[in-house]
Amino acid sequence: MRRLVNPGVLRAWLILGAGIVDATGLALAADPSQLTGMVCAACHGADGNSTDPTVPKLAGMDQEYLLRQLKAFSSGKRRDERMVDIVMAVDPDDFVGLASYYGQMKPKPGQVTDAALAAKGKSVFDDGNTDTGVPACAGCHQPDGRGNARFPRLAGQHQGYVLKQLAEYRSGRRATDPLMTAVGKRLTDDDAKALAEYIAGL
Ligand code: HEC
Ligand code: HEC
Repeated sequence: MRRLVNPGVLRAWLILGAGIVDATGLALAADPSQLTGMVCAACHGADGNSTDPTVPKLAGMDQEYLLRQLKAFSSGKRRDERMVDIVMAVDPDDFVGLASYYGQMKPKPGQVTDAALAAKGKSVFDDGNTDTGVPACAGCHQPDGRGNARFPRLAGQHQGYVLKQLAEYRSGRRATDPLMTAVGKRLTDDDAKALAEYIAGL
């Protein structure tokens, strides 16, 4: 029988972490919407737009990008306590279906709380920072932050999540892409905060 999820790991997580469902039914989950509804939605939201600022919105992100990230969690190139346990419990054959499921969902915009900070972020996003050698984000992620298969969508993403990723590229903890690592290493804390504020409102 095809292994969809490892019921032992998931049961432990579901009972200890979220307590949302008795995991005995998970092995029967046959299509991505069942698996996402029972497992992913608890953190990423039923519509792929998480409300927890530490958990990324997945809705509308390119499916090739999402697939690469699932593989990166499973190979250990990308680390996160919450995501890795989940990815290890899912059958890798389901990664493509999961990525395409979220890629087709409708992204929701985020919320800007500091307009002056966002304006500073826009300047770095559009033109880079010549003092520190930071290239324009728009050059890769597109001027509206919509992204493509190579460069992920940033528009509307939570400030907290974006800041954490920028810090992880800078420290080398997230080693999924040398281009973005090079960008992260040049960013100052102030620029990162301003960029995260601007990105939320794109
Ligand atoms: C317990 C909470 C939790 C659950 C359940 C969960 N995730 Fe995640 N997911 C996270 C967190 C937290 C991150 C961000 C990790 C980081 O900071 O690097 C993440 C990141 C991701 C990313 C990377 C997104 C990006 O923008 O790079 C993908 C793809 C993803 N999750 C897919 C899934 C799928 C598919 C499922 C269900 C099979 C799932 N997640 C279940 C918490 C969760
Ligand atoms: C040379 C092209 C390039 C430039 C310029 C660039 N990026 Fe990226 N960025 C990438 C690539 C490629 C990825 C995907 C990396 C991966 O797979 O981890 C990425 C990923 C990211 C992510 C993680 C998205 C997620 O969902 O986890 C964030 C946040 C980000 N970039 C922000 C920025 C910001 C802010 C700037 C401008 C200061 C910028 N990038 C400039 C290429 C670029």
